[in-house]
Amino acid sequence: QQGRDQIPAERKAADFRGARQDAHCHDKPVINIVMPRGIFITLEGGEGAGKSTNLAFVRKWLERAGREVVVTREPGGTELGERVRDILLHGRELHISAESEMLLMFAARAEHIARVIRPALDAGKIVLCDRFTDATYAYQGGGRGIPAARIAAIESWVQGDLRPDLTLLFDVPVEAGRRRAGLRSEPDRFEQESNEFFARVHATYLARAASEPGRMRVIDASQSLEKVEQQIGSVLKEVVGGR
Ligand code: TMP
Repeated sequence: QQGRDQIPAERKAADFRGARQDAHCHDKPVINIVMPRGIFITLEGGEGAGKSTNLAFVRKWLERAGREVVVTREPGGTELGERVRDILLHGRELHISAESEMLLMFAARAEHIARVIRPALDAGKIVLCDRFTDATYAYQGGGRGIPAARIAAIESWVQGDLRPDLTLLFDVPVEAGRRRAGLRSEPDRFEQESNEFFARVHATYLARAASEPGRMRVIDASQSLEKVEQQIGSVLKEVVGGR
């Protein structure tokens, strides 16, 4: 497989010359073929917000609406991403600074975007991703104290203009969520953090949702499963349509 870095130097130079010549040909008609782009949906939330159960519901809803859905997750989604996930969630013997943690999240994300997310969106599919960059703002920003401006700089470098079209934020009070999550398996590196850490994560998520109400929809996940599914269904109907 030939990566971007392996393009021979003379090809790159030729491409560049071509681009410059084109730029001077104002009389040439420019044909813009706009491919229908897919929809990028992300799911977010603190611990024990029922993300996995709700992800299955969202997937089913979209498939019933006749859409092709690619389900993926972060950190993860590629072979590299899953290995990075293993380090970040289970590397308890390692020292990982907040900055390294953030950069590893973005390293996994760069690979995920190039190999999974962009190709699927370009093919008109719906990408349903369990966590994305809002989690970096919430956990590494709010939780660990990395300034949002620093995250934003790397976000635009790694993602270009790629942002989710819709983000469902599953919201439960911190303590109730942690109780729910605590009933599951042994805590990972994040789950071991303090209640104060998760209170900051929670506050950051809500602040982001308040500043981008069109993209980020808060789902009250403390309600019954049936009510949660109703909330999800009405957002999907509005944003994705169909059904
Ligand atoms: P989860 O997918 O089971 O929720 O686990 C992923 C963990 O990784 C979760 O504790 C949140 C954390 N995380 C970050 O801290 N930053 C990120 O950018 C992402 C995607 C996840």
